[in-house]
Amino acid sequence: MNKQAYLELIEKINKHNQYYFVENTPQISDYEYDQLVKEAEKIEKEHPEWALKNSPTKNVVEKTTKGFKHVRHKVRMMSLSNTYSEEEVEDWSKRMQKLLGCEKVPVCMELKMDGTAVSILYEKGILVRAVTRGDGTTGDDVTQNVMTIKSLPLKLKGIAPDELEVRGEIFMPKTVFKALNKEKEEAGEDLYANPRNAAAGSLKLLDSKLCAKRKLDIICYGIPDPRGAKLKLQHEVHAYLKKFGLPVFSEKHYGKADTLADIFKFADKIEKERPQLTYEIDGIVIKVDQLKDHDRLGVTGKSPRWAVAYKFAPEQAITKIHDITVQVGRTGVLTPVAELDPIFVAGSTISRATLHNEQEIERKDIRIGDTVIIEKGGDVIPKVVSVMMSKRSGSKPWKMPAKCPACGEHVERTIGNVAVRCPNTNECPAQNFRRFTFFVSKGAMDIDSLGPKVIEKLIDGGFLQSIPDIYRLCEDDLENIEGFKEKSIDNLLSSIEKSKDTTLPRFLLALGIKHVGAGVADLIAEEGKTLDGVMDLDEDELCEIEGVGEKAAKSMVEFFTDKKHIKEVEELLKLGVKPKSRAKSKKAGHAFDGKTFVLTGGLEGYTRQEATDLIKERGGKISSSVSKKTDYVLVGDEPGSKYAKAQKLGVKCLTEAQFEKLL
Ligand code: IVH
Repeated sequence: MNKQAYLELIEKINKHNQYYFVENTPQISDYEYDQLVKEAEKIEKEHPEWALKNSPTKNVVEKTTKGFKHVRHKVRMMSLSNTYSEEEVEDWSKRMQKLLGCEKVPVCMELKMDGTAVSILYEKGILVRAVTRGDGTTGDDVTQNVMTIKSLPLKLKGIAPDELEVRGEIFMPKTVFKALNKEKEEAGEDLYANPRNAAAGSLKLLDSKLCAKRKLDIICYGIPDPRGAKLKLQHEVHAYLKKFGLPVFSEKHYGKADTLADIFKFADKIEKERPQLTYEIDGIVIKVDQLKDHDRLGVTGKSPRWAVAYKFAPEQAITKIHDITVQVGRTGVLTPVAELDPIFVAGSTISRATLHNEQEIERKDIRIGDTVIIEKGGDVIPKVVSVMMSKRSGSKPWKMPAKCPACGEHVERTIGNVAVRCPNTNECPAQNFRRFTFFVSKGAMDIDSLGPKVIEKLIDGGFLQSIPDIYRLCEDDLENIEGFKEKSIDNLLSSIEKSKDTTLPRFLLALGIKHVGAGVADLIAEEGKTLDGVMDLDEDELCEIEGVGEKAAKSMVEFFTDKKHIKEVEELLKLGVKPKSRAKSKKAGHAFDGKTFVLTGGLEGYTRQEATDLIKERGGKISSSVSKKTDYVLVGDEPGSKYAKAQKLGVKCLTEAQFEKLL
């Protein structure tokens, strides 16, 4: 090993840090990353004279983000060192025994949540600030976004201390992640690699309204300064936090152990339960139970000595790519897919993995015939992590076809856009098929009996040519379809009928307008109020809606100026589809209708989200800052500067009791 090789290794780690922490698009598995860091640590130990002061082995590299206020942590937020084998855990345990000078070191074991760390400050029981880890010393103020987490109280239960700082992990539940990625895929947007990236990315959204739609969740597991709480042991922290109504691990997800055997038993039990958990974990964390020992044990590099992560074996496997095929999506985007020799990994057999796009294939140098490492992350679709170059022999490079494999049309590339598209929007059978499956999907018209296989048969039988044909299906048509009996016909027709009663955002989404996912559809529906109102919005008006980007605005206008689309919408309405606008479902004529509210301080009876929903349901709007245009400021406990501003401007302030009366 020479110094140059060490510097190259550091550069490589820094590059992957950028992918992971800044761009939220990791290119290698956590395991591979940890191996690189371990290698660097080893070299730095052998050659301390080479070690860089800003080496990634010593610093947390997550960065702060533009657009957020930066806040210095009172107590540094650190990282954990990782172990992957029983031997490594045993080494750690022995080190603890030696450093503490005792034979038995009781530990607390917890799930290692695979999310993003946050520090939350409660003053007199009121949530006043939430900050990301950042570089460990300074993080981003993400209070507004964290306040959208439904399970997190804005006001603590019971008698809270004057000040309580809580550490925890924000995560995106697996089902929310899958739905989000599906929506992104349909809208032709880049996908999140895993729920961790999705959680981290969502937390950095500049609009908390959009963040609220990401349905993030949190589990709190620590107090950086436990002295005030008069706690002695880490495993008592969970019950302590729970008392205040904070979301914590369930009792079976943390425990005490005195021996290594008990630690491994807990790890085994959790690893077996892992696939059933509603969120992602990547191991367990082992913490010295005596809190007073934490300070004594101190820190190495960027991690405390008192805790260590024991990570599960990655859900990876090795197999061969025997072909690369191309899938055509609803909006015509061509996605290369690796056809694999079937292999069993993490509970199921896998025979395909997405390769995302040409650039991804180039970057990883993936070829047909290669032996590859595949990984099953949080996503349903497994991915190719890397090629085992040592096993490469006679593999064939792959090229994106010049013609759409479904309709033969020449594909198009937009400059600067990684996507390759089939432009044959109206006739490409693959796009057509996907439009149907998208239209009926759960988040859209929700016609659950109309699965992809049935759609395929109906298209083949000539019964489905355009979307409105779904509402023209009748008993006679379906009797001709193989496998359809009286009961399944009844089910299908009644679920089609039921779907007619829908909402405007769902209907908008179902139309499959490029770049208009569920979140954007919701915002546009809110602005346009009725379908006619939505169709009348011009590009400028659309762009002015907070959270609607230029691409979505353009694509909306394009969609609704196309006569074919207008005809389709009219047909759907004629056939009985009734997209209810929210305005109608609002309690019409309510005192809140059209009024703008600002919330400040903690409410007794409602979370902030609940109060927001109640106002919106009654036609009111929420704004984050007080101005002359504000109609009401709802003032809770310990209000912030918004209260003072409201008084200065003479804006009407409501107490919780007055608000309740008006409700
Ligand atoms: S304790 C560093 N406990 O893992 C010591 N961390 O790799 C304080 N994490 O930044 C952290 N589950 O985001 C702790 N039960 C748990 C955890 C946990 C997940 C995360 C946390 C931390 C990262 C370190």
